[in-house]
Amino acid sequence: MRPTIDGVDLDQLAALRSRDGSAALAAAAELTGQEPLAAVSALRARGFGPDLAGVALSQARLRDRAVGKFGADAYRLLFTKDGLEQATRPAVAARRAARLAQAGVRHLTDLGCGLGADAIAAARAGITVHAVDADPVTAAIIAYNATVLGLDIDVSCADARDVPLSAAGAAFCDPARRVTGSGARRTRDTRRVFDPADYSPPWDWVVQLPTLVPYTALKLAPGIEQSLLPEDCELELVSVDGDVVEAAAWCGPLAQVPRRAGVLRGRTAHELTGSGTRIARVGPTGDYVYDPDGAVVRSHLVAEYADLLDGRLGDESIAYVWSDAKVATPFGRAFAVDEVMPFSLKRLRTALRERNVGRVEILKRGSALDVEQLRRDLRLAGDEPASLLLTRVAGRPVAVIAHPV
Ligand SMILES: C[S@@+](CC[C@H](N)C(=O)[O-])C[C@H]1O[C@@H](n2cnc3c(N)ncnc32)[C@H](O)[C@@H]1O
Repeated sequence: MRPTIDGVDLDQLAALRSRDGSAALAAAAELTGQEPLAAVSALRARGFGPDLAGVALSQARLRDRAVGKFGADAYRLLFTKDGLEQATRPAVAARRAARLAQAGVRHLTDLGCGLGADAIAAARAGITVHAVDADPVTAAIIAYNATVLGLDIDVSCADARDVPLSAAGAAFCDPARRVTGSGARRTRDTRRVFDPADYSPPWDWVVQLPTLVPYTALKLAPGIEQSLLPEDCELELVSVDGDVVEAAAWCGPLAQVPRRAGVLRGRTAHELTGSGTRIARVGPTGDYVYDPDGAVVRSHLVAEYADLLDGRLGDESIAYVWSDAKVATPFGRAFAVDEVMPFSLKRLRTALRERNVGRVEILKRGSALDVEQLRRDLRLAGDEPASLLLTRVAGRPVAVIAHPV
């Protein structure tokens, strides 16, 4: 009996696909709120064997977890815990697939397809997909999921490095990252360092993929060391509702600009493009301060963002953009500035009390202050909300009292 194991093996997979398996999955779906042992006992009382009961319950729980990513489809699909965690969000995968289709890609080899969020999106965009994964269970699951969704995806279980690519129209690779999924190791002083050995397929192979298949797209961790990317690729940073979720390298003929920020909010995608090398103007503070989305910052498009706002930086090394104009922008949060003061706890506390502030959201760029400690030290007791930005202007630490626009 394995009530809490989130993995599945090939025999269990076969059992889940049987008629008994469907019945066990349906019964388990009603029991996911219960303690695992009680839920398995309930399934056993309905006549399911211990192994099937355990794996059906684990799948039912994974399906519940998968709804956030896969929507209602989740209740028809099978998952592994790792595969679910690594799967691209469907909105991001769909946007990538649409761009591939628009670039004329008709055949795509997905090298390390996982549970197939990207492969499924590509197939739905009308692209013929050959999906490859080295893990037999993962390959079996994507084959099953594709069938359930009525998609014709050709699945192989193989090492990506052994797949003949001379006839591949286009390639996509989203390499697995070991252990922490960070694609990085830590030095003794805890800085994260890019480590190619963390990648599977290995980074050395991934990075030369565009030389084998010019139409190559890669999905990478947002913190990828940009100097190691394939030559002349476009680097896109993608965020969803403010969280940076991935970097994508668009290689060969797929590259359109040096840098792009893809900012997805709700159902809408907004794009900012540029060279990634421009330096933003530096100047005085203003009536408004803008906090750029992480995708804008990481794609080095802050200067392009500042242009949209007719803005400037208050400090050359800090990505808050100051402006006298109130501009509606999807590429960052806007704040109306109430007061900018040199940082002093006493002065800040007095200013917030005078404004009857009781609740502050605290943002910081270029400040080493401990936000939670500061919140305690402020000892606020008022009724009003405020935003507090801790940063530097012309090299000096400042506190900005503001409110969101
Ligand atoms: C990050 S996941 C892919 C997720 C997928 N893009 C999705 O959205 O569902 C990476 C996959 O690569 C597979 N993989 C790792 N090394 C591989 C190799 N050398 N050859 C083929 N597949 C490999 C892993 O088994 C894993 O399923």
